[in-house]
Amino acid sequence: MKTVVEIKNIHKHYDGQQIETHALQGVSLTINQGEFVAITGPSGCGKSTLLSIMGLMDTASEGDYKISNIDTHGLKVDQRTQIRNQHIGYVFQSFNLIDHLTVFDNVALPLEHRKTSKEEIKKRVEKVLSQVDMLHRKSYRPNQLSGGQQQRIAIARALVGSPDLILVDEPTGNLDSKNGDQVMALLEKLNSDGATIVMVTHDSRYSRCASRQIQLLDGKIVAQINSEKSLQGVA
Ligand SMILES: Nc1ncnc2c1ncn2[C@@H]1O[C@H](COP(=O)(O)OP(=O)(O)OP(=O)(O)O)[C@@H](O)[C@H]1O
Ligand SMILES: [Mg+2]
Repeated sequence: MKTVVEIKNIHKHYDGQQIETHALQGVSLTINQGEFVAITGPSGCGKSTLLSIMGLMDTASEGDYKISNIDTHGLKVDQRTQIRNQHIGYVFQSFNLIDHLTVFDNVALPLEHRKTSKEEIKKRVEKVLSQVDMLHRKSYRPNQLSGGQQQRIAIARALVGSPDLILVDEPTGNLDSKNGDQVMALLEKLNSDGATIVMVTHDSRYSRCASRQIQLLDGKIVAQINSEKSLQGVA
């Protein structure tokens, strides 16, 4: 089984002018290809911090992180950007779509950074837009779409480069329960098609969809639960 994420004893300190926060306090975690991991825990326990370190958006203060066997220690900013672009798809809670670009151009962005041919870009963008059931909206702009549709476009953008790892922060946080359920069903489907997913969520209904739940408290992992689904081997 290929290991996608290997985190060893990570700490993260934020040094403010008056207060210092120790957001992660010795987190170790291994995630294999094909897993669907949910990270849960109360507000402020370090979930987004852990996800942004996994996504190379931020660096740990101490500890080691390997993604797809690449040691990320001491890399320069442009090396980190390149690894992120090739290996990671990141879905933000607030979607982070670019308003003046069409749906198609938003989803194409990660490929534009890779010098992919126009023909290949069209093929791959249309494929992921069909996967998230949004091909019929490819010429729309983000502000002409519902929240659930925007989230699906953000997921398509994360998928388009066939990353080793998809990171999703509160995918249902800004959605009503109907749209939230649709987005979760999409993530479950992508996982059953082989995607490795790490999702942060407050919602225990959704964390139960994952094959493994990791509970954080005050910057530490306090419990890990393997769901019955994964014990039975049903993805
Ligand atoms: N840029 C920052 N500067 C200073 N402190 C920060 C920063 N980002 C996060 N923190 C602190 O680190 C701790 C963990 O924050 P984090 O955003 O990881 O929590 P979270 O578990 O994602 O919470 P929520 O569920 O509310 O999103 C918090 O105490 C927070 O105040
Ligand atoms: Mg958060």
